[in-house]
Amino acid sequence: MKKGIICYSSKYGSAKKYAKWLQEALAYDCRDLKSIKATELQNYETVVLCGGIYASGIKGISFLKKHASQLTHQRIAVFCVGASPYDPQAFAQLKQNNGKDLRKDIRIFYGRGAWDESKMTLVDRKLCHILQKVIAKKDPDTYEPWMKALMEARGQSKDWCDKQYLQPLITYLEQTKL
Ligand SMILES: Cc1cc2nc3c(=O)[nH]c(=O)nc-3n(C[C@H](O)[C@H](O)[C@H](O)COP(=O)(O)O)c2cc1C
Repeated sequence: MKKGIICYSSKYGSAKKYAKWLQEALAYDCRDLKSIKATELQNYETVVLCGGIYASGIKGISFLKKHASQLTHQRIAVFCVGASPYDPQAFAQLKQNNGKDLRKDIRIFYGRGAWDESKMTLVDRKLCHILQKVIAKKDPDTYEPWMKALMEARGQSKDWCDKQYLQPLITYLEQTKL
């Protein structure tokens, strides 16, 4: 049995960046989820998914749900990466939504990613512009944290990735017995 593997599902590179940092810290294997078959994960004691957040959904989490019957013995953790600043209420909601049909002992962690409209696909950029237009009509005092972040990041290039976001996950993996 191998120690652990980090699988990343990343569109613009932030979740991949965190996956590589985690690999340095833990000496686990690290692979793009696209290249992985569920049966391969059975060789590992621990599986970590690093996935970007898109419209409140964690990229790659559907893989864990789809193959749940083959992943019963592994310790599994998820590290999700979004543009919003950490907000306990919003994160609780995100965990609740994404945790549906997910093994109950799977822990979910959060790290802040990046935002660069110049690197987005045309569809993503358009989607974000539509969202920004809708938010712009609201009273700024009523903005939720993700709305505030989206409006502040408008037209800008931001990278909030920081190794420190990984610490709670690393502590969990090091301190929890298998
Ligand atoms: C179309 C679109 C939707 C997004 N939805 C969210 C969201 O719901 N919550 C959030 O925090 N960030 C959201 N983001 C920002 C991404 O999560 C952020 O850029 C992250 O760093 C992407 O990770 P990746 O590069 O590994 O895919 C969205 C970005 C795009 C382009």
